[in-house]
Amino acid sequence: MVIETVREPTANFPDEVVNDLPEEINTGVYYGWAKLDNGPVHKMVMSIGWNPYFRNVKKSMETHILNEFGTDFYGSELRICITGYIRPEMDFRTLDDLISTIKIDIATANAQLEKAEMKKFKDHSFFQSESKEDKTVNGFKPH
Ligand SMILES: Cc1cc2nc3c(=O)[nH]c(=O)nc-3n(C[C@H](O)[C@H](O)[C@H](O)COP(=O)(O)O)c2cc1C
Repeated sequence: MVIETVREPTANFPDEVVNDLPEEINTGVYYGWAKLDNGPVHKMVMSIGWNPYFRNVKKSMETHILNEFGTDFYGSELRICITGYIRPEMDFRTLDDLISTIKIDIATANAQLEKAEMKKFKDHSFFQSESKEDKTVNGFKPH
């Protein structure tokens, strides 16, 4: 799914995944690693929550993959490994405030994931096995 308003493409998990999240995972903004189908492992930043700015009634998990400029993630397998927490979910006065905060989240995730203790999760065996469906060509997903 692409957020036209925010202009940061995000991939969403189906409701079953969101509903099965462990209770101890609070809403908020997290960072970690993500892999689409059999592509490379990228940095990601993720929002778990009710998106108060948009008055959403449904809890969602939205993953924004850094360096992934594809816009159609629908039907792809998305594996994520959450390695850290950035901030609680917030409401904003304007869309610009939301967008500038998301930009800071992306910069925070980018810097944190450069650390050796975070990089080790990038090579975790969780990301090594093949995806059931291979929609990638030479490691890249065609758009
Ligand atoms: C890194 C990141 C942080 C976000 N933080 C917030 C937040 O604090 N408050 C909020 O209302 N929405 C937040 N959002 C959610 C956006 O508002 C969301 O992408 C928007 O609800 C688009 O929804 P749609 O997919 O229904 O168009 C965040 C999204 C991302 C990717």
